[in-house]
Amino acid sequence: MRNDPLLQPYRLRHLVLKNRLMSTAHEPAYSEDGMPTDRYRLYHREKARGGIALTMTAGSAVVSPDSPEAFGNLHAYKDEIVPWLRRLADDCHEEGCAVMIQITHLGRRTGWNKADWLPVLSASPVREAAHRAFPKQAEDWDISRIVADYAAAAQRMQAAGLDGIEFEAYGHFMDSFWSPATNRREDDWGGSLDNRLRFTWAVIDAVRAATGPDFIVGIRMVADEDWDKGLSRAEGVEIAQRIAASGKFDFLNLIRGHIDSDAALTGVIPIQGMASAPHLDFAGEVRAATGVPMFHAARIPDVATARHAIASGKLDMVGMTRAHIADPHIGAKVAAGLEDRIRPCVGATYCLDRIYEGGGALCIHNAATGREAQMPHVIARAPVPRRVVVVGAGPAGLEAARVAGERGHSVTVLEAAAQAGGQVGLLVQNPRRREMIGIIDWRLAELERLGLELRFNSYAEAEDVLALAPDMVVIATGGLPQPPEADGVELAISSWDVISGAVKPQGRVLVYDDGGAHAGISAAEMLARAGAEVELVTPERMLSPDIGGMNVVPYLKSLHETGSRITPALRLAAVRREGNGLVAVLGSDYAPGAVQERRVDQVVVEHGTAPLDELYFALKPGSRNLGAVDYTALIGEGEVLPVTNPAGSYGLYRIGDAVQARNIHAGIYEALRFGIRW
Ligand SMILES: Cc1cc2nc3c(=O)[nH]c(=O)nc-3n(C[C@H](O)[C@H](O)[C@H](O)COP(=O)(O)O)c2cc1C
Ligand code: SF4
Repeated sequence: MRNDPLLQPYRLRHLVLKNRLMSTAHEPAYSEDGMPTDRYRLYHREKARGGIALTMTAGSAVVSPDSPEAFGNLHAYKDEIVPWLRRLADDCHEEGCAVMIQITHLGRRTGWNKADWLPVLSASPVREAAHRAFPKQAEDWDISRIVADYAAAAQRMQAAGLDGIEFEAYGHFMDSFWSPATNRREDDWGGSLDNRLRFTWAVIDAVRAATGPDFIVGIRMVADEDWDKGLSRAEGVEIAQRIAASGKFDFLNLIRGHIDSDAALTGVIPIQGMASAPHLDFAGEVRAATGVPMFHAARIPDVATARHAIASGKLDMVGMTRAHIADPHIGAKVAAGLEDRIRPCVGATYCLDRIYEGGGALCIHNAATGREAQMPHVIARAPVPRRVVVVGAGPAGLEAARVAGERGHSVTVLEAAAQAGGQVGLLVQNPRRREMIGIIDWRLAELERLGLELRFNSYAEAEDVLALAPDMVVIATGGLPQPPEADGVELAISSWDVISGAVKPQGRVLVYDDGGAHAGISAAEMLARAGAEVELVTPERMLSPDIGGMNVVPYLKSLHETGSRITPALRLAAVRREGNGLVAVLGSDYAPGAVQERRVDQVVVEHGTAPLDELYFALKPGSRNLGAVDYTALIGEGEVLPVTNPAGSYGLYRIGDAVQARNIHAGIYEALRFGIRW
């Protein structure tokens, strides 16, 4: 371990970073009114405790009020941020972790109709696809006030005791001057590279004048927009070289790609099913061409790749950002030789998609992340060991078993199928989503380590459960697909029939999705890839409203590549047989009576699941709590399962889709938050 390249300290000027692991800037949207309050602090402290050397806080902390937050960004333009950041920095420093922050002016990457309703601006008035504002062209007085705002923000960060800052220069205001895609100016700020870099020099000079030579200042910059109308690799590398040669920056954090649409963003931040470490070699090339300390992150999810990035000299610090959202204790586990116990980041990008939908970043399978005040990452043993039976080995059931095992209880898991996984076993039939099996495999490995008993092919009846004399029964039996209400819907097949491969695609297929999450669109993708002529119909105004912009990208790629049709705002009214085929009758919520028909070979429906709850209701009368959960206690303190039937011999708790159709995170969170209390 001592020779592990990842664990070697790194000296960045006067600052010694204890190893090579860092978390790059990412706004988890935990801020309150733009301030990094306790939730924010505890989130970073957990990573510091988990052994990371450097945490780049915020993501795009905004330096000016006319850069209103796009996703909970911190307000670096307010003095009141200083004490909050000081607390965060003190906590992390105590654990030996350095703290920096990314500051920026978002430019056109935000909206005008929020915060102080100030106009959005950019180098030139070119609209950004993702945020849809038509920016105004920055004027001379805008440029000088924003330069001053950068300097004032940098001073605040220094006053808070942070070790340094980085500028964000990809898709934001600073690099809007660099890129031909966003700079059409013919004045002193456009045209030649000298002109396009003028703003960058003005900012760094003002920041250096404000903070002095000892404060660390780096830049997270694009060196190739990978875009026909954007910044070329040749010009990007030249910018990197000029930045390095200026001696004004202490490190370079490399980005390749552009981010003005969701589709483009997945090139910079690839999601599951996409290439790992796609820009690592380029980062190595730029490091060689510039000689500056090089940081970089882009889907380096595992320790082996991270180690290679350092050992091969491509990077000085390796960003494992989502990997630390999934497991904030990576450094400590590597140092302790427990690499195989790291909870894997499966690339689901639920974390990032949530912030664009206005939520806080949450990991699909680590419910403690972002909830550090209430949910522990390391589970304490219970005072008294008990006997727990968990029914169902999907993600929720396995999490319940894992947590109970960590608590020191004796656990038996009963699973009707021949293997664990539940709906995860189904969704990974889409080859693009195979990594999701990590959610199951990691838990199975943990259960084995904890010595818990798993019984497969065990369809549990109430007496099977009672024969195990449990103190606690957790019902995690999941659900089964249910059809939407429509005449003749029994002629349709379910999304599960398609995803599992049980029904083969034929000819023209209409996929009707009012589930709004992955199952419907995944079935459509698999059908289209298998050669069917697909039309995906949804009653919503937008496609798949329950999955975020990043996750929709590969689905749309498949649907567009295969020439599939997408139809919003129509509701399935009926299915009828006609000749050898079927007719789907589609109505409109908006224009009652307006009806369309489609002649197809198959109709596939996705309408969520109905709980498999027979066992729960069979066990309910004999339970101490009669199945009841005290929600006030569950979200606060006290006895979660009220004793409403003292004659009962066990507690009964039902979780996940066995309660109602939800997602993986919901089931895992339910298992964790109950499990740690019992
Ligand atoms: C929730 C979330 C928010 C992010 N916000 C920012 C941001 O504001 N600025 C930034 O430069 N990168 C941001 N990123 C990108 C990360 O810094 C990183 O580049 C990306 O996650 C790829 O690295 P990874 O594969 O190690 O996660 C964000 C990432 C996530 C997951
Ligand atoms: S949600 Fe997915 S991508 Fe994000 S940290 Fe968790 S496992 Fe990784």
